[in-house]
Order: sequence, then structure tokens, then C-alpha cells
Amino acid sequence: MNLIDFLNSSPVNYLAVATLEEQLQAAGFYKFDPTKPMLDVKPGDKLYVTKNDSSLYAIRLGSMPLGESGIRIICAHCDSPTFRIKPNPEILMEKGFVKLNTELYGGAIMSTWFDRPLSLAGRVMLRSSDPLHPQTRLLHIKEPLLIIPNLAIHFNRQVNDGVKLSKQKDMLPVLGIINDQLSYNGLLLKLIASHLDVAAEDILDFDLYLYDTTPACEVGLQKEFISAGRLDDLSMVHAGMQAMLGEVVSEEKTKELQRQTMVLAIFDNEETGSGTKQGAGSPFLSQVLRRLVIAQNRSLGLNSDPRDDFYRMIENSFMVSADNAHAWHPNYGEKMDPTNHPVLGGGPIIKVNAAQKYATDADGAAVFSEICHRAGVPYQRFVNHSDIAGGSTLGNILTSSLPFRGVDMGNGVWGMHSIRETGSIKDQEYVIRAFSEFFWG
Ligand code: CO
Repeated sequence: MNLIDFLNSSPVNYLAVATLEEQLQAAGFYKFDPTKPMLDVKPGDKLYVTKNDSSLYAIRLGSMPLGESGIRIICAHCDSPTFRIKPNPEILMEKGFVKLNTELYGGAIMSTWFDRPLSLAGRVMLRSSDPLHPQTRLLHIKEPLLIIPNLAIHFNRQVNDGVKLSKQKDMLPVLGIINDQLSYNGLLLKLIASHLDVAAEDILDFDLYLYDTTPACEVGLQKEFISAGRLDDLSMVHAGMQAMLGEVVSEEKTKELQRQTMVLAIFDNEETGSGTKQGAGSPFLSQVLRRLVIAQNRSLGLNSDPRDDFYRMIENSFMVSADNAHAWHPNYGEKMDPTNHPVLGGGPIIKVNAAQKYATDADGAAVFSEICHRAGVPYQRFVNHSDIAGGSTLGNILTSSLPFRGVDMGNGVWGMHSIRETGSIKDQEYVIRAFSEFFWG
């Protein structure tokens, strides 16, 4: 699947995971149910597991015992800044105008959400016979449904000098006009019910978010750029998946049994600090890997202690934490570090920070730069301008529980956390090749 199709079919985290699942199923991966015992695993097994429908780990098991080989792991995140629909969201205004109550998710550039044809996506929980296990249905309303209208410049002459926006007042999307003003309550539930073809009374709750219905597209003199929502971090999710599926690896190579085990870990909630059961701060990855070591030791008939092998696995592993970076911006060159100017189209960017916001150190950077070199891919470096605080990402959060050697890297974008970010088509090809070298080389 190409990046544009992947982005268009993945308006929010839940849909991104569903899109990944489809690709994995088509490639012969089986789904591990973590409520069941992990049965025997054999070299070459391809499996995946999901958590909360919004996080996914895919694993391609190698021939070597995990304690000996460790894993080669690529991490990325599937959530992006957006607005979450609040409970009881309908607000009836004069003359039958209905808007929806929302709250901000993550660090969006809010002004970019004005005047866009928006819609809803996420998951809906339905009543089932078991109160502890409601039924989950994904919702992706594809047609434009909502809009957050800007205020005319005539009412705000300072608009181009910078405007302070209120999340609660300025950012509420308008849903429409109703004739029967008594029926505005429960309007959204009725809408969801009709889209899912279920009874509104059976909807127990939902995790629904706004997204921009404008599709991703190529742009530029030579179509060298991509303009899309959620490049951060779905472009890295896409690249990790292409590498896991062996899309740019020779067919003989994908049929050979590899020695090393490859893991692709897609986490949720990076944009809110990763501190959830489906985020990078969760013990879930560690638990799955521990179970894998135990199952593999048993399957291979090894007599070594699986607890010891688990710790050996960690020491023998290498992590690539892949999250987008800031590319040098033609209008804001002064925001960058004086001597490091990573550009769009210049290849993957290794991110390093003295305050250790990134997991990269000289060892991790050395490994990743050599992988790029072997893949024939250029690479670049990012450090913050020393007077400008930068962002953070997954790598450090994950390595606080699983102390892998590793690197923080990502492709460059302009306008990170805008409703539409700009990236490079060439960089996507480069990073897929680099990740494929890391997994298969
Ligand atoms: Co990110």
C-alpha cells in the first residue's frame, strides 16, 4: 500500500491499526490473543497482537533463540493531534444551529483547523450480552460533515498579527441546522446509529475524533512533496510496515528464514505523553516479549532459564524509534541550529539532544548511520537551536522499561502538528530502504 492510500484510509489511530491489520492478515500474519496462552512458536512465525484496538505489535520470528539474537525493533506512533468529541456534545444555538462540544487531543496548531471540511472517525462501543465486553465497531464517516468557521477579518482586524484561541469557544465545529429544535439532544448518537446500522439505544459510548476529509496529495514542481494530515507519525508507521512486509526486499530474501527477529511496535497516545496501557510507557510490549521468549524456549527445547534469556534478549537488541523531525524551513531558517540543517528530500534524520529527550547517543547514531550507508540512503542530523526547546518522543519512554540500545530518528516535515503537514516523497522511499536494511540486512 502506498503512503497516500495508507494516510487516506487512516484518519485516526483506530483506523490506522485496522488498516495495518488488513495488510498483516493479507501477508499471512496470525493474530495472537493475549487472553489465551502463548502456544508453541516456531522459527519463521509471523504474528501480531493489538491492545485497545489502537496499538499494534507485529513480529517476524527468526531462527535464533531470542536470548542470543535479541530483536530488531522499529517503533512509531499512530495518534496525531485532533479534537475529541465530548459526551452529550450537541449545543443548540439560535435558529436551530447545532455545534458539537469537543476537547483538544495533543498539541495541534489549532488555527489550521478552521474552514476545513471535517468529519468523524473512531470507535463506538455497543451493548452486548456481556457487560464487561461490549462490542466494538469502527466508524469512519467519509463525507464532510462538520466545519469550524473562521471569524471574518472585519470583526478582528488583528487576525494577521496573531490571535489567542480558546479551545472551548473558538474551536467548536458546526454540525448543521435542524428544523425540529426539540430533537437536537442525541442527534449525534442517531447519526452514528444510522451509519453503523444499529439502534441508538445500544450505543454505550464512543471514542470519536475530528479529521480533515481533504485527501493526501503530492505537490511541487516535480511532485517532490506530500501534503497530508497525520504525516507525524503515520509516515513512519507506513515505512515500518513496508519494511516488515519486505516490500522492497527481493522475493528470495523474504522466503528465506532470517536469523534475527523483527518487531514493529506501533503505539498510541504519544501526543499526550505515552502514559496509557496502549502507549510506549505501557508494560505491554515487555510482557509480550517475555511470553515470546518463554514460548520460544519451550518450542526449541532449550534448558536455559527464560527469565535470564529475556534479559539477554534486551541486551542483544537494537531499537529504531521513528518519529518525524523538523526539516529546515525556507521561511524560518533562523529557528534551526546554526550548523545542522536537515532538509526535505535529504534522507532520514537522526535526532540528538543533550538533555536526553531523544534516545540517541553516539553508539545508536553510529549504528543507524551505518545502516543508511549500507542501504545507499543519505542521512542527516537534527539538534535543537540551543535557545529553542524542542519536542520529545517515544524512544526514551520505551527505554526506561526496556533498556535497548537505540536511536531516535524520523523523516523531516514542515508544519508539524498542522492539520496538514508537508513531507518529501523521496524521503519516504529512503526511509523504507533504511528500515528494510535494518530488518533484513
Ligand atoms: Co510524532
